[in-house]
Amino acid sequence: MANPTRGVGWAGRRAGTGSIIDVEAFLVTGGNRLEGTVEVPGAKNSVLKLMAAALLAPGPSVITHVPDILDVRIMAELVRRLGAEVDYRPAQGELTIDVPAELGHKADYDLVRKMRASIAVLGPLIARAGVADVALPGGDAIGSRGLDMHIEGLERMGATFESSHGFLIAKAPGGLHGAQIWLDFPSVGATENLVMAAVLAKGTTVIDNVAREPEIVDLCEMLNQMGARIEGLGSSTLTVDGVEGLHPVRHATVSDRIVAGTWAAMAAITAGDITIDYAHTGHLEIALDKLVSAGVSIEQTANGFRVRMDRRPKAVDIVTLPYPGFPTDLQPQFIALNAVAEGVSMVTENLFEARFRFVNELTRLGANVRTDGHHAFIKGRKRLSGAPVEATDVRAGVGLVMAGLVAEGTTTVLDVHHIDRGYARFTDLLTGLGGKIERIDPDVAASA
Ligand code: EPU
Repeated sequence: MANPTRGVGWAGRRAGTGSIIDVEAFLVTGGNRLEGTVEVPGAKNSVLKLMAAALLAPGPSVITHVPDILDVRIMAELVRRLGAEVDYRPAQGELTIDVPAELGHKADYDLVRKMRASIAVLGPLIARAGVADVALPGGDAIGSRGLDMHIEGLERMGATFESSHGFLIAKAPGGLHGAQIWLDFPSVGATENLVMAAVLAKGTTVIDNVAREPEIVDLCEMLNQMGARIEGLGSSTLTVDGVEGLHPVRHATVSDRIVAGTWAAMAAITAGDITIDYAHTGHLEIALDKLVSAGVSIEQTANGFRVRMDRRPKAVDIVTLPYPGFPTDLQPQFIALNAVAEGVSMVTENLFEARFRFVNELTRLGANVRTDGHHAFIKGRKRLSGAPVEATDVRAGVGLVMAGLVAEGTTTVLDVHHIDRGYARFTDLLTGLGGKIERIDPDVAASA
């Protein structure tokens, strides 16, 4: 069995430290236009849940189109500690999870604090083991991110909860039963946990006001392949008829619409020309429409789409909402775009209150952005100027790299382990498109 913490060619790890996360920086030099082709891997926000779903069936499930990112390695370590054998082949983008008949039930704090998506094992563990001890999550520094809907939904299905010494302890010794559940808000994580718990519950569970993200459809498709009976995929109501047991499968991860949208925004900000392969325009409709309003031209290709820009972008207003609304995970990238656009814009963030922490960093590059509650007001500037800045989360990190690509001089982006969490081969791909970026030692960065 491969040890997932000893990755092959794992960018972001200094030799000999043995640590799962290292602090490194990117040195970005502004001024180059991005041009060429990139291929988008499977979605981070899908694959992590597919890995949790594999726990629902004993035996070896194979997941393909797996992105070579830090979060996959953290999740691999988590499922390994639950008793599964994990064979991760990053070069092939394949991951085999061989699940034992008897699962462990503890998700340790050292992993959960690094990655909030660890909470996705809660549903599968209660469903399979009748008990789950999951450390209360930390994860991205982007807001409070409660678990109330996860807990209330599982309680409806017969689970009991207590919190003790930083752990959330869930129990359902007699198994879960079907229930009628209404979510106050279409939470991605709550929808996923409830569906994964419901597939093995006795009877029928109806979950209303669920999240409809393509990653949720992907999860439900894998569960149905495993023998689950879920109806309503892609709609606001999921009906789940519980089954006795599931079987392992081979499943390809849906393409990462946020990575695709990030490359599209990069083409727009650098007046570039990028063809984005293994991408679906249908998963990015509002974001691409906003880019067209900003001045880009978009052309469908056989396997994705091509984004071209030949002028300074025009400012565009954005309001983040659950899918199919504008994704919060593209909000920092579009603030970066608006920061150099012609005109003024307002960006409203409705999902994560702390996502505007990024704005403080962007203003260090000379951006004219003011925030008030969940609104940001941006007055586009012709030029930004390079400076040291800090990535506060994965999307803020790429937003700062984007700004660095058009700033005068060099920009040092610190804490790039956040970017490594979600963007595979990021510096290689960016360099291949003509961008000037290099990974540097943090000590050098500190004195830059
Ligand atoms: N919320 C609650 N109670 C709950 C659940 C959620 O109050 O029981 C709140 C959260 O506090 C947050 C909002 O609802 O303010 C949205 O949370 P949601 O559950 O929808 O999001 P999530 O599952 O925590 C996933 C992605 C995020 C993405 C959001 C929204 C993963 C691993 N994470 O988070 O991705 O922004 O959905 O689309 O799938 C990223 O990739 O950069 C990222 C943060």
